[in-house]
Amino acid sequence: MNDEEKHKYRSAGWFGKRDKDGFVHRSWMRGWPTDVFDGRPVIGICNTWSELTPCNAHFRDLANVVKRGVWEAGGFPLEFPVTSTGETNMRPTAMLFRNLVSMDVEESIRANPIDGVVLMCGCDKTTPALVMGAASCDVPAIVVSGGPMLNGKFCGQDIGSGTAVWRFSEEVKAGVMSLERFMDAETSMSRSTGTCMVMGTASTMASIVEALGLTLPQSAAIPAVDSRRSVLAHLAGRRIVEMVRDDQRPSRILTREAFENAIRVSGAVGGSTNGVIHLLAIAGRVGINVTLDDWDRLGRDVPTLLDLMPSGRYLMEDFYYAGGLPAVIRAMGEHGLIHRDAVTANGRTIWENCQDAPNWNAEVIRPFDRPLIEQGGIAVLRGNLAPDGAVLKPSAASPRLMRHVGRAIVFESIEHYYERIADPDLDADENCVLVLKNCGPRGYPGMPEVGNLGLPPKVLQRGVTDMVRISDARMSGTAYGTVVLHVCPEATVGGTLALVRDGDLIELDVGARRLNLEVSEEELQRRRAAWRPPEPSMRGGYQELYLQHVQQANTGADFDFLRGCRGHAVPRESH
Ligand code: FES
Repeated sequence: MNDEEKHKYRSAGWFGKRDKDGFVHRSWMRGWPTDVFDGRPVIGICNTWSELTPCNAHFRDLANVVKRGVWEAGGFPLEFPVTSTGETNMRPTAMLFRNLVSMDVEESIRANPIDGVVLMCGCDKTTPALVMGAASCDVPAIVVSGGPMLNGKFCGQDIGSGTAVWRFSEEVKAGVMSLERFMDAETSMSRSTGTCMVMGTASTMASIVEALGLTLPQSAAIPAVDSRRSVLAHLAGRRIVEMVRDDQRPSRILTREAFENAIRVSGAVGGSTNGVIHLLAIAGRVGINVTLDDWDRLGRDVPTLLDLMPSGRYLMEDFYYAGGLPAVIRAMGEHGLIHRDAVTANGRTIWENCQDAPNWNAEVIRPFDRPLIEQGGIAVLRGNLAPDGAVLKPSAASPRLMRHVGRAIVFESIEHYYERIADPDLDADENCVLVLKNCGPRGYPGMPEVGNLGLPPKVLQRGVTDMVRISDARMSGTAYGTVVLHVCPEATVGGTLALVRDGDLIELDVGARRLNLEVSEEELQRRRAAWRPPEPSMRGGYQELYLQHVQQANTGADFDFLRGCRGHAVPRESH
């Protein structure tokens, strides 16, 4: 290593000094031979391992594999933990903590001698949070996704994470499935480490970051326990060292073209509505103006090629064996739907990575002339009920409800919904529209995944499986139904949603992208004058910071003070 390289990297501001400060930085590290401080790139392994995040429970082993690659390429790996957000255990909702984790990631990188970072991502919020944090400080970064679980197996059938739970629990309520059989399904669904193996939010985000170019090819779909997941982690460890040497930062990968590729890929794989919020937030961190309208415009002509639950039949394990995301990107690129020159983490363009990718199973990755859904993507609805937008995933909705007028049944909160939904006197039929308020970013708070409200039992018992549902909440990526989500502005800040009353007529027209409350403007003004915001459920601490600074879903529900480019992390003097 020559003298120029010795002082080339950010970490030299800590380890490269021959003075008291350098002594302190090196001496306290303990146990390393002195030559690891010789100016080689220091690679942070940003780990979201936690036993409370079972989807990421294999990350200690995976991080060790990454380190092997870092050492081989001449780097010095140092693993550090950040707050982990386990989707299934955190209350009130893991989304409340996404921005907090992103701050943890950003400040951990800024504060420490890190030249490049490997982001160990898995469960839903861990991927956007880590990417947002790394993008904000713009040091070279590569994502290693943890990979999906093996297919669930129950009574001779494949069952998907979450998707099967929603279906089975409706069947229990409808009296079609016994509670004992329901409990049996519990251990059959999650058969290995890894993330949900449907095209839920974790798989959507793993696909989005691969399409953005932040991973090595095939990162999204290799099962967590497949030996090729280890190979990928090993290679990512080698690659991040080269990325530091080439100064290949997120701002050089996260271009407008990369975001457009990611939006289209999300449509082609049948991605979760949560991907909309997270991608908007990531774009906000690098100052790229991606909007809800981009999602609608770019997704409209993208067919959903992937036949995966919850929209289709197969699971992530099948997706990998069929060819994985490169096969989807190749098909899209051949139809002019990919910016081919977008640069990816391995230094090659997305087209160089994918142009020869084989499709081994045209039932799983369907051809353009036989897609699962002609027009995939996300529909962005507007109207007096959602002047700043709302989203709906057409591929998960019922065709018969895509144009519908119905009478509102209103729930003022999720607690009100639970109190009221099973009431035998509830005046409900299959044409009604279920409306849930106060579950947006500032409501609840944290925008929980409760938008796919279960249907009233009295309607379910008549064999009805879908109704129009509208809320300012999110929905699990594993869920399905004719569900309008992310209504903006949310009810808690006085959006029109706050003014809806039982019996009001609501018009949904997905083709025309319209969502209207059929109540006169004079009547709405009367209701608005009488409206009072709900009292926050908690004061002080992180939740107070969250309430003061969280923005609406149409820009990604990020904190106002975290958006925009705050600059490349550079070392500061220690004191
Ligand atoms: Fe963690 Fe689905 S609950 S990925």
